[in-house]
Amino acid sequence: MKTAIVYYSMSGNTKYVAGKVAAAGADLIEIAPEKKFPAKGLRKFLVGGRSAVTGATPALLPYEFKGSEYDRVVIATPVWASSPAPPLNTFIRDNREGLKDKKIALILCFRGGGADKAAAKVKELTGCGEFEAELVLVDPKKNAGYDVDKKIAGFVKKITE
Ligand SMILES: Cc1cc2nc3c(=O)[nH]c(=O)nc-3n(C[C@H](O)[C@H](O)[C@H](O)COP(=O)(O)O)c2cc1C
Repeated sequence: MKTAIVYYSMSGNTKYVAGKVAAAGADLIEIAPEKKFPAKGLRKFLVGGRSAVTGATPALLPYEFKGSEYDRVVIATPVWASSPAPPLNTFIRDNREGLKDKKIALILCFRGGGADKAAAKVKELTGCGEFEAELVLVDPKKNAGYDVDKKIAGFVKKITE
């Protein structure tokens, strides 16, 4: 089973988890918008939040993903306004064929609200039916430690057994 972990991260939490899961044996693919989202102040939440609720699909920097090479794709994203971060919208739209018939698992990083809605949106966008596994963590880089590691280990077990 070959696995790709596709992630976007603004402030490092999703990157942290994606890296840990990838260490168990998966290709790590970072996606990023051509035009960075503001990462500070009120604009961080206004611009990113509006973009996320409207389901924006920003142009992405080049990345390599050959869907045919993988059996499983793990989508990892921060929750923005109860939605996936917009770069993931673009990735899913542009790789619809490559995601078809794959096992899809989901990693969400958030601060405590809106993960269920974000998961439902990713489910709808990918059309995957059910996720093979789901890992939802509260700012895991900031809260790194035993509990986070234990949850990551549980997720890795599900997607590797
Ligand atoms: C634009 C924006 C919107 C956000 N909206 C939510 C939200 O709806 N619910 C929540 O719990 N956290 C929200 N957050 C917090 C992030 O999801 C959380 O801090 C996450 O761990 C960040 O991941 P990252 O470090 O990989 O970027 C938001 C953050 C940003 C920048």
